[in-house]
Amino acid sequence: MSMMMSPLITGVHFPPISEVKRWLAERPLDGRELIDLCQAVPDYLPAPELTEHLSGLLTDPLISKYSPDEGILEVREAVCGYYGRKYGAQVSPGNICLTIGASQAFWLAIVTLCRAGDEVVVQAPYYFDHPMALDILGIKGVYASFVEADGGLPNPVAIEKLIGDRTRAILVVSPSNPTGAITSPETIRTLFDVAKRHNIALILDETYNEFIPGGLRPHDLFSDPAWGGHFIQIASFGKTYALTGYRAGLLVASEPFIHNALKAQDTMVVCQPRITQHAVKYGVEHLDGWVAANRDMMTRRHDLFREEFLQPGNRFRLAASGAFFAWVHHPFEGCSGRQVAKRLVDEAAILCLPGEVFGPGLEGYVRLAFGNIREEAIPEAVRRFRELV
Ligand SMILES: Cc1ncc(COP(=O)(O)O)c(C=O)c1O
Repeated sequence: MSMMMSPLITGVHFPPISEVKRWLAERPLDGRELIDLCQAVPDYLPAPELTEHLSGLLTDPLISKYSPDEGILEVREAVCGYYGRKYGAQVSPGNICLTIGASQAFWLAIVTLCRAGDEVVVQAPYYFDHPMALDILGIKGVYASFVEADGGLPNPVAIEKLIGDRTRAILVVSPSNPTGAITSPETIRTLFDVAKRHNIALILDETYNEFIPGGLRPHDLFSDPAWGGHFIQIASFGKTYALTGYRAGLLVASEPFIHNALKAQDTMVVCQPRITQHAVKYGVEHLDGWVAANRDMMTRRHDLFREEFLQPGNRFRLAASGAFFAWVHHPFEGCSGRQVAKRLVDEAAILCLPGEVFGPGLEGYVRLAFGNIREEAIPEAVRRFRELV
């Protein structure tokens, strides 16, 4: 007999990316180089000027110290400048808490909003870490179904029908992981209005907001003077500046919400590392052009991926695609996404994620993070899908 663990956590599946990466050890070596479409990580390095700037800070005696829980004021002020440019609205430093990735921002949002037994309406296909966190905390995810004809976009009418007495929030990811679909500013506004009507929160995870083609404004909620009453943003500079390992996230919410979230921040992590904060400050002050160039490159990757994938002779069907991701229906009826993803590793040297990790009943799909690979590798990647029989 050994100590008991919480059944809430033992009942949660193992992190899917770790699971599929374990398959690599058993992969037959056929001489083909692996094409990794699994974890969404920009293939390029951070801007060299950013790395150089940070290397000059390593001897600063302050750099190894804690910062205030919410982050250094000058960094949050610089982030506010970025929000002014990106969202055309005034967000104040008191609305921001810098976090250990968007991942921790999500935990802060949820523990500040919900008690065990509460419910969150989650648009499927979802980002798997979200329901994992909800399940661990004893919060019930209520899932708005994926409708392929809607291209993976949330339907506010369907979402509103799922709201009940215990609902505390609606959770949407835009651009979506796993479908890449971009929810329009109008739909985001409608979802916000639904949240307001029910006096709950709209939580929007905008981890991929810099990959919206043309750099279009994702929404105008921050221009509403009352946004803080019902809107919480989860954001990340991890993908934006190719700094996923720096854990450069942030929570943006009303000042009273941030005030309470800081109680959890203090007990969880205290603060985002200072070096990360300096990376964020440098990025928002100097790298708009670098970000725009990478966004254009990602748009070209998407265009090429679609063009190649839609050529005749491909039995995989493109159900949705957009910033960074493609959501693909596989042709092997009766097989789970796991079985197909495993075959893709073994027989085509392609690493991707099974659909069922993104929601119940999604075994017919796999997710491809084509944003991970360079343009010249895309035709070969697509050829490997075509060849799988
Ligand atoms: C939708 C979504 N939210 C959050 C995260 C986590 O981001 P971070 O690395 O900033 O914690 C990811 C990472 O892939 C993601 O896809």
